[in-house]
Amino acid sequence: MVTRDVRVYPDVEALSRAAADNLATALNAVLARSGSVSLVLSGGSTPRTLYRVLATAYGEAIRWDRVRVYWGDERYVPPDDPRSNYRMVREALLDYVSITAENVYPMPTDLPDPDAAALAYEQTLRRHFQGAWPRFDLILLGLGTDGHTASLFAGSPALDEPARWVTVARAPVEPSMRLTLTLPVINHAARVDFLVTGAEKAGVLGRVLRVAPDATEIPAARVRPVQGMVTWWIDEATAAGLGAVDMGSFSGRG
Ligand code: 6PG
Repeated sequence: MVTRDVRVYPDVEALSRAAADNLATALNAVLARSGSVSLVLSGGSTPRTLYRVLATAYGEAIRWDRVRVYWGDERYVPPDDPRSNYRMVREALLDYVSITAENVYPMPTDLPDPDAAALAYEQTLRRHFQGAWPRFDLILLGLGTDGHTASLFAGSPALDEPARWVTVARAPVEPSMRLTLTLPVINHAARVDFLVTGAEKAGVLGRVLRVAPDATEIPAARVRPVQGMVTWWIDEATAAGLGAVDMGSFSGRG
């Protein structure tokens, strides 16, 4: 059973402040009953503002020393490459909070063989999670104008990977070599939050929110946690172009 919630904010600043507050509450709720919490972070540009808000206003409000940080996908570039998702998250967030270094799990991009790197990351995850699939407490995702999320692109074999937790993917843009969590891993999360802003995303998001769940042509539309919640954090520019959609338990405008 998927619960969907669409939250609309005037702009990325307001959206990021609300999402940061909600994320802090969610992480602390898990920490109230568990010794640690697993958080998967997204690359791209939209979440930077959220990461900056977390870094500047939530350094004390979250027990960062008990947060385990993972990545949903990574470009296969060195960790100090300007295009690295790890570098972006480190510079926007991790350098400013009291995260425990041992709890930061970047996807390895230093092995000559990307498939070996994907297997290595999967082995890391299998040390942290028991069972057929990992159940991350919260996964942050973005949405590409082509409907991709993480590095799951339409038509890519990675999108239909049925068994691996982490796989190699090819993006249609450089750097094309990627590592990504697979769709079953994303769909076994307790909670998935998408951050989407800009008028250019309205068309694809409208299709995602309208499309039948088994539609295969839009990767983001296949994010339907088997027992979890999907929250869409969007701005007015995106919302204005959605057209008639079922907003789920639409919680209105922030
Ligand atoms: C990446 C991200 C990617 C991103 C979307 C949306 O590695 O770039 O994982 O999936 O989330 O492309 O990016 P924006 O939020 O910057 O539009």
